[in-house]
Amino acid sequence: MANKSLAKPHEETCILVTGGAGFIGTHTCVELLEQGYRVVVVDDLSNSSEKAIDRVRAITGTDAPGQRDRLTFHEANILDRAALDRIFSAHDIDAIIHFAAFKAVGESVEKPLEYYWNNVAGTLALCDVARAHGVKNFVFSSSATVYGEPDFVPITEECPKHEATNPYGQTKSMLERILTDLYIGDNEWNVVLLRYFNPIGAHPSGLIGEDPKGIPNNLLPYVAQVAVGRLACVGVFGDDYPTHDGTGVRDYIHVVDLARGHVAALDWMGGKVGTGAPSGPDAIQGQPAEDGSRRGVGVFNLGTGTGSSVLDVVHAFERACGKQLPYEIKPRRAGDIAENYAACEKAREELGWTAQYDLDRMCADSWHWQSMNPEGYATAQ
Ligand code: UD1
Repeated sequence: MANKSLAKPHEETCILVTGGAGFIGTHTCVELLEQGYRVVVVDDLSNSSEKAIDRVRAITGTDAPGQRDRLTFHEANILDRAALDRIFSAHDIDAIIHFAAFKAVGESVEKPLEYYWNNVAGTLALCDVARAHGVKNFVFSSSATVYGEPDFVPITEECPKHEATNPYGQTKSMLERILTDLYIGDNEWNVVLLRYFNPIGAHPSGLIGEDPKGIPNNLLPYVAQVAVGRLACVGVFGDDYPTHDGTGVRDYIHVVDLARGHVAALDWMGGKVGTGAPSGPDAIQGQPAEDGSRRGVGVFNLGTGTGSSVLDVVHAFERACGKQLPYEIKPRRAGDIAENYAACEKAREELGWTAQYDLDRMCADSWHWQSMNPEGYATAQ
């Protein structure tokens, strides 16, 4: 079966966003709606809140009469094929942005079956139902984790993938392979693998942001919760790495920039920007469709190109919240690498996308969200 066309105006295009109530998902819904797209969210709310969807409506004006049907929410798990089938039947979906996944690295080591089942089997179910409805435009939420211990920094898309050190990372790597094989088996597929570096920050409205359940595993939500008084002290995992201050260096990217990278990827898939020549050992340039929509597998890093250490982040957050934050040096965390940051030329050249916001702005927006919503969505109206 042929694939849907993306070579048409945003206003006529409907995007299914799985995991659309989550941190990156909500921000991507906002950018899609602001660019005129219609959006259908499917989310099982296992690590998110429907209040986040209400906030997306408030930001984008899709809570107004006459606008509401531009955003539809379905509470469903992507493993539920019958529910997916109903959703694809009810909406004329053109493309999928697939965020829905479990994402806690430590937990994935404890619960590999749950991670492989939810992330891998869930994506297979989604692709199968999508294919049955003739939807083969697919943007996948991948991660820089697929590079493992990178051969070099800045990490280009040419950098070979290495074995992930945990089941979460394995699911990302495996799904990249699976989606590539879908294209190899059926050249109607149009797949983009977006390898995120470390998304942080929040929408400048302060209405949506990261709201992890329990004690955060990742640095930024942890620092934000120390700043707001929910946690006592930041643990800095190692100060003896070969970096400028000994603490681990990452490429933090504002979640709004990251979300815009998805909108750029859709334009690229529709043949509206770029030459169609993504590079790297994992990319495949296919034969475009007659309407100019691309076919193949595009691979893009989404980062800023700037590395910041753990202490750089703590100090930037101190500037944002206007107070000193207690921190303590702890032993290295197993599986961490010293340094990881992106080369961003490929996304700039092909997608016409570059990150706009710096670390200070990321921390300012994160603090705005955290201080307006100290308990996340739990107490939100
Ligand atoms: C982690 C995952 C990565 C995943 C990403 C998305 C690992 C090894 N990697 O990236 O696969 O895609 O999250 O969420 O878990 N740090 C502290 N104190 C803390 C927390 C973190 O010092 O309380 C340090 C870490 O050692 C690291 C940096 O902060 O140097 C960033 O850590 P984190 O936010 O967990 O992200 P990554 O480990 O880069």
